[in-house]
Amino acid sequence: MKVTVVGAGNVGATCADVLAYREIANEVVLLDIKEGVAEGKSLDIWQKAPINLYDTRTVGSTNDYSKTAGSDVVVITSGLPRKPGMSRDDLIETNAGIVKSVTENVIKHSPEAIIIVVSNPLDVMTYQAHLSSGMHRNKVMGMAGILDTARYRAFLAEALNVSPKDIQAVLMGGHGDTMVPLPRYTTVGGIPVTELIEADKLDAIVERTKKGGGELVKLMGTSAWYAPGSAAAQMVEAIVRDQRRVFPVCVKLEGEYGIEGTYLGVPVILGKNGIERIIELDLNDDEKALLTTSDGHVKEVMAVLDRLNG
Ligand code: NAI
Ligand code: 2OP
Repeated sequence: MKVTVVGAGNVGATCADVLAYREIANEVVLLDIKEGVAEGKSLDIWQKAPINLYDTRTVGSTNDYSKTAGSDVVVITSGLPRKPGMSRDDLIETNAGIVKSVTENVIKHSPEAIIIVVSNPLDVMTYQAHLSSGMHRNKVMGMAGILDTARYRAFLAEALNVSPKDIQAVLMGGHGDTMVPLPRYTTVGGIPVTELIEADKLDAIVERTKKGGGELVKLMGTSAWYAPGSAAAQMVEAIVRDQRRVFPVCVKLEGEYGIEGTYLGVPVILGKNGIERIIELDLNDDEKALLTTSDGHVKEVMAVLDRLNG
């Protein structure tokens, strides 16, 4: 299996590293427009192979898409990250142009590839990749839900002093402050979380999760990369190993949850064909209201993209 990661910055390089050391692909191509950066980082990852004992080949490329030809999966991380005080939506103009040209180049050389978008604003950049690729919605998706859910699970594990491995959860909606947490679907070793934590503490964790990306931007002056890079690699793994994992993934909704045409995070089954199935949960009225708000917000940003695209 061959996987390309476009953008050899913080998230892209981390994703390539995880793909290599976990031997998720036989070959990983890392591509960037900055001269030499992708080559340097792939060489560094390859030189780690004898230490960490893996045989995935890593190849770097400065904007030469011929090296990406025949990729089974392509992860797009190219684009500006947030700086303190910025929202993800502030990145739209620059990143839309980047995601458009990258997707067109990717498709020229790997027409069968499944595309995973990471660039922000996530839901709308997934829409851009879908527009620019013309591929079926099952093959163009965005990574955000695994990251948002991981943050929520990590905060809960800390509060309950249990292993994060035992926390199962799902968050839906757009990647931003309107994300939709679902405590009703959160369990700790199979036990409903509400039986283990007071309501006010759970509410505080949900609020911290919604602003989880911003918390890191404030601390570091740029956005996170370890968890985002690993989350994207986990999606690649589910596809190349046909694992049929159940993950929250950003996908175009065509009537599911009563929503038409918006790119939103929903639980899906992820396997060799990309989105194998969208799972429709039976949401209660409060959850539906939160999803409607998130849908409205993402639709507004999609309309901005439509205007930019003329
Ligand atoms: P970074 O600045 O470290 O890396 C971005 C890389 O993209 C740079 O190396 C840059 O040279 C490259 N690039 C720019 N234009 C390009 C082009 N046309 N072709 C190829 N490469 C190009 O940024 P970082 O931290 O890696 O973040 C990347 C993107 O991912 C940002 O938009 C960020 O907001 C987003 N992000 C999304 C997350 C999610 O949950 N969906 C989580 C974390 C970051
Ligand atoms: C994050 O949530 C900025 O989307 C990025 O860390």
